[in-house]
Amino acid sequence: MAKVRKAVIPAAGLGTRFLPATKSVPKEMLPIVDKPIILYIVEEAVRAGVEEIIIVAGRNKHGIEDFFDVSYELQDKLEKDGKTDLLEIILRIQSLATVLSIRQKQALGLGHAVLCAKPLVGNEPFAVLLGDEIMIADANAKTVTQQLAESYENTGKSTVAIMKVPNAEVVKYGIVDVKPINETTFAVQSVVEKPKVEDAPSQWALPGRYVFDAAIFDLLKNTRPGKNGEIQLTDAMTGLAQTKGLLASTFTSRRYDAGDKLGFLQANIELGLQHPEIGDGLRRYLLEYAQRL
Ligand code: UTP
Repeated sequence: MAKVRKAVIPAAGLGTRFLPATKSVPKEMLPIVDKPIILYIVEEAVRAGVEEIIIVAGRNKHGIEDFFDVSYELQDKLEKDGKTDLLEIILRIQSLATVLSIRQKQALGLGHAVLCAKPLVGNEPFAVLLGDEIMIADANAKTVTQQLAESYENTGKSTVAIMKVPNAEVVKYGIVDVKPINETTFAVQSVVEKPKVEDAPSQWALPGRYVFDAAIFDLLKNTRPGKNGEIQLTDAMTGLAQTKGLLASTFTSRRYDAGDKLGFLQANIELGLQHPEIGDGLRRYLLEYAQRL
């Protein structure tokens, strides 16, 4: 089966949950400790064997493109100042993968954003990683994208990540109707975008990691605007489930919804605690602060 070599990162949303910070700064560039959100996402894709990253960008998103580009002046200065450790960090980012970007001229929905990437993806399987969801795998564990890519490569079927959410939270996610195959793998029957609690077919939610066959593009092209007038990826996924088939897989990584204020702060605290430079100091501070609460 074809290898998953390309990944699409939709990053053209308006980020309204994070206003006013996201008025001129893309939310994908907000930092978790010392790295922008998008770098964690690109690193996850690269660990899964992805060689080409396609960023679907909107207006005000130049910062993302610049971040992966060469910065001669900065590099020159770091080199002259002998700051080789920082220079290495900067050079590593540029060499992680080939990073391309394409515009979504209007935020017409996640499905539309994925369709915008078609000219750069072509006719091959590809991963989709949402630009505001961070998934951290243990050092020796597989990343979510790696799990999904392996499922595609072994079965030839598009595979998406799912996680169980409390009943009250189904309204925030795409929810899948599934039939179990084994403990971790399910066959998707259909997908409903942000259902009411009483209409949800299950508590299995889509946290924003997918590997798709290129057939999804034709389905997206024929998808009419759905919930909130947006072209919904979930509607095309139902089409895929009912034609070529769609698998869903649980995953082991820790997940943070970094596009949400609370999720963003949780990611900063947990990843800050693991950071070699500030971890100990942050732990001492949190323990001391907790006494005062
Ligand atoms: P979200 O709905 O979480 O992002 O979309 P948003 O619209 O930017 O954020 P809020 O809800 O207003 O705060 C999930 C992902 O899909 C992208 C977003 O950038 C985000 O990474 N997206 C969404 C697009 O690229 N284009 C769209 O038209 C919609």
